[in-house]
Amino acid sequence: MAQVPVLDAKAVLAAVSPAEAIERTRLAFERHAVGEWAMPPKVYLDSPPNGDFRAMPARGEGFALLKWVTSFPHNSERGLPVVTGALLLSDAVTGELRAIMDCASITSLRTGAAAAVSAQVLAADGARSVGMIGCGVNGAWAARCLAAAGYGFGVCADTRPEPAGALAAELGWRVGARSEAAAQDLVVTVTPAEQAVILASDLRAGQHLAVLGADVRGKCEVELAALQRCRLFCDEWQQAAGGGELAGAVADGVVTRDRVTQLGDVIAGRSEGRRSAEEVTLFDSTGLAIQDLGIATAAYEAWREGRVEAVEVGL
Ligand SMILES: NC(=O)c1ccc[n+]([C@@H]2O[C@H](COP(=O)([O-])OP(=O)(O)OC[C@H]3O[C@@H](n4cnc5c(N)ncnc54)[C@H](O)[C@@H]3O)[C@@H](O)[C@H]2O)c1
Repeated sequence: MAQVPVLDAKAVLAAVSPAEAIERTRLAFERHAVGEWAMPPKVYLDSPPNGDFRAMPARGEGFALLKWVTSFPHNSERGLPVVTGALLLSDAVTGELRAIMDCASITSLRTGAAAAVSAQVLAADGARSVGMIGCGVNGAWAARCLAAAGYGFGVCADTRPEPAGALAAELGWRVGARSEAAAQDLVVTVTPAEQAVILASDLRAGQHLAVLGADVRGKCEVELAALQRCRLFCDEWQQAAGGGELAGAVADGVVTRDRVTQLGDVIAGRSEGRRSAEEVTLFDSTGLAIQDLGIATAAYEAWREGRVEAVEVGL
């Protein structure tokens, strides 16, 4: 019976640093944009009124994966994780299962890394300061990845003082009001909010916004008037139009496909990124299975090279 390693959250986070997560995520966007990696649409399974499950497949670099993951936004009120589940990594040549991994850690690394990649690709020259709105699990990883990419000083805002305080203390940043965070060069939102946390009155020339919280229809972090002032980018059009920050504006016909550029196309040199120092750029991240594949293959390599340990199971 073949033995399969089970990488828990600790092993994944020991295996893949924020800096490596950024590199792997950038590569994933590029490979997908040029058609080397495959990613069928993710499947949502609602679990009303609590949240939803997602099944996310991808193939590339000799591997295939399936991530089975939740978004249960009210779980934090119950002291439970919003994002939880497991990831299966298989050999794309033989079909054999190669690893089982915790998916919350992989999700956090690739979500945080996507914010950093979007900043590297789209932020104005000299952009440094970071405003975090939402400092929970994935907000904290976005901040860590931005710090690893050399961004900061930062302002941490959250409706709960504890996570904002803890993140600010960890990174040597400071706690501030939402409006202070929204005034920084880079503004990253990672809340489950259904009401805007970025208003049109917050925007100033040259900012880059990475909006990560809205990953299913109904969530919304940016006021429509603010959205309309931005040059729009997303991770993947179908996902963003169907369930991301852009979904409401797309459904209302305010935003159309020709107004939105996929980040991978900019990385691959197929589309234009920022056009001026004044432009406000907005990256709508919904979270892609190709990003998970980038991180999962890095974690698997670390295990194979003996850099992290994992329990092995026979199935
Ligand atoms: N785009 C992606 O790839 C991606 C990946 C993972 C999670 N998400 C989404 O990001 C959101 C956050 O996930 P998480 O795991 O970090 O959850 P979390 O519960 O750990 O953190 C959310 C934080 O947002 C804060 N918050 C809530 N409303 C706020 C508001 N109006 N202003 C400021 N702060 C506010 C909460 O107090 C909490 O600290 C969820 O909606 C989740 O579905 C997106």
